[in-house]
Amino acid sequence: MQKKEFKLLPNPGIMSSPVYIGGEQPNLLDSKIIKLNSNENPFGPSKSAMEALGNSFDLINNYPSSSHEKLRKAISKIYKIDFENITCGAGSDELISFICQCFCSPNDEVVYTEHGFAMYRISASLRGAIPIKAKETNRFADVDNILKKCNNKTKIVFLANPNNPTGTFIDDSKIKYLLDKLSDNILMVIDGAYAEYIENFDAGLSLVNNHNNLIILRTFSKIYGLAALRVGWSYSSSWIAKIINQVRGPFNISSPAIAAAVAAVLDVDYTRDCLVENLKNREWLSRELKDLRLRITDSKANFLLVDFNSENQANKAFSFLKNQNIYVRKVTDYGLSKSLRITVGTNDECKLVKKNIQKFLELDNGL
Ligand SMILES: Cc1ncc(COP(=O)(O)O)c(C=O)c1O
Repeated sequence: MQKKEFKLLPNPGIMSSPVYIGGEQPNLLDSKIIKLNSNENPFGPSKSAMEALGNSFDLINNYPSSSHEKLRKAISKIYKIDFENITCGAGSDELISFICQCFCSPNDEVVYTEHGFAMYRISASLRGAIPIKAKETNRFADVDNILKKCNNKTKIVFLANPNNPTGTFIDDSKIKYLLDKLSDNILMVIDGAYAEYIENFDAGLSLVNNHNNLIILRTFSKIYGLAALRVGWSYSSSWIAKIINQVRGPFNISSPAIAAAVAAVLDVDYTRDCLVENLKNREWLSRELKDLRLRITDSKANFLLVDFNSENQANKAFSFLKNQNIYVRKVTDYGLSKSLRITVGTNDECKLVKKNIQKFLELDNGL
């Protein structure tokens, strides 16, 4: 029997949206591979998180908690925020998608910064909304440019602070200014995926009490080392939390993921060790690469954006590193074709990165 053609079209925006281009996923069982292309924690999760993960397997015949109560309580304790207004997602990606699902429709506008994280424009496009780019100044988010792009069609503003892939960070006074000037009818999303890499920085959590149109996003994929388990969370007014929970699936996070995330967030000493190590290695690598006359954007996160002379040179450096089993990230889809984004690895990994980039530059100049 001949199959009938399926003619139903998906919703507006779905087929015309760009698709997320992630870092390559080499075989990580090969111990020679150094994966520095997705800003993961090179030290992995804390021992307590691994233990909790192991202990959780006995229960996998049961559905996981739909309220994420234990996780929200642990987050609330560590971050000193109201348990009721925390919402958990399968990675912050899921929360970005929920936010677009809840707050924008076809032809609405969603503002994001020039080199803002790709999922903002992708999730907005998938809703048929129009992503609007606000120019940065020297790769730093420019709050006046963001405000200039807002009008009565704007529903959401997305800002990652620090941003990926630039690593740049803007201080609280600029965020407060932006929030004060922004219309109350626009949802402001501050994405703090890398916030834990900055000492004593809350990514705007304390501003939520005074701003009903603000939502903060956080993740367990970066400093907590649990990227594969897919856990993110948001903090907002109870009204926004209620709206997001309307669209959230009841069992969106698995019990192993919840158990590991609870243990990870409670292990503040380990988180602190990772912060200190990242800072040390990032500053070292940044200095060394600057000494090789490469331009490095000022990063407050766990990666560096490294500029080469040309797109061709960046591509050659990428391939050279890959041949040495070092996987870094091209950022052409962010309009940064001369740059490579390199996750700050362990001390040894940073040394290898430096050594190989130096070797590459010597050979490349010799051509
Ligand atoms: C700024 C930013 N937000 C969100 C995410 C998504 O993280 P998650 O793994 O929690 O979905 C990333 C991942 O790279 C990111 O860089």
